Amino acid sequence: MNMDELKRQAAARALEHVRDGMKLGLGTGSTARHFVDLLGEKVRAGLNVVGVPTSEATRIQAEQCGVPLTTLDDVDRLDLTVDGADEIDAALNLIKGGGGALLREKIVATASDRMIVIADDTKWVDVLGRFPLPVEVIPFGLAATQRAMAAVFAQTGNSGHMVLRKGKDGHVFVTDGGHCIVDAHLGQITDAPLLAGLLTAIPGVVEHGLFIGLANLAVLAGAQGIRVIERR
Ligand code: A5P
Repeated sequence: MNMDELKRQAAARALEHVRDGMKLGLGTGSTARHFVDLLGEKVRAGLNVVGVPTSEATRIQAEQCGVPLTTLDDVDRLDLTVDGADEIDAALNLIKGGGGALLREKIVATASDRMIVIADDTKWVDVLGRFPLPVEVIPFGLAATQRAMAAVFAQTGNSGHMVLRKGKDGHVFVTDGGHCIVDAHLGQITDAPLLAGLLTAIPGVVEHGLFIGLANLAVLAGAQGIRVIERR
C-alpha cells in the first residue's frame, strides 16, 4: 500500500466523526487534502456542514469540492478541525507548518472544540524535532528575530541551525499572511511546551509550528491498519 493510500484511510476514519450541522476547520497539506475531498463527496450526497479553510489552497479545493465555507468572523466556535501534521508525539503534541500554513492552522484549531490529527504512521515520533520546526516571522528585523530565537534555543537546551525557507522558484517563501518562515533544525526538542511559550514571546515571531495540547485524537494509518490515539 502506498503512502497516499494510507493518508486517505486516515482521512476516511476522521470523516466518521463528522456529524450533520457541524462547523469544521479544514486543514492543509496532502493528508488534509484527502479529508476535504471525501467531505466533498458527503456534501454532494446531502451532508450539511460548513467549513473554515486553513489556507488559500484549501479554500480553493473546498470550493471546487462544493463544501460551503465561512470565516471565523461569521461563526463563534468550530465543532471540529481535521488536519495533518509533520510530527506527532505520545502527548499528541505536534510539529506543523511543513506546508507553510501553520498560522491559520493554529488559529482555526484553537477556535475548535476538538482537533483530530490525521497522518500516516511515519509521523509518529518519540521526541519532536527531527522535522525542522517552522517558525513564521515578520520580514522586518529578521536577523534580530533569529538572534532572539537562537537565545531561546540555548536557554531551553536546544541547538541547531536555522534556514530561511525558499519556495520551489528559489525565492524566499511567503506565507498566506505575507510573512517568512525560518525552519529550525533542532534534531530533538527538549521541553516542547517551554520552547513554545518562549518562542511566542519573541516580538518578530508571528507563530510557530509547535501545537501543544491542541489535538484531541490522532488517527494514524500504517501497513498494519489504523491506530487511534486519544490525548489523556
Ligand atoms: C501545513 O502547513 C502543515 O502543517 C501540514 O498539515 C503538515 O505539513 C502535514 O502535511 P502532509 O499531510 O502533506 O504531510
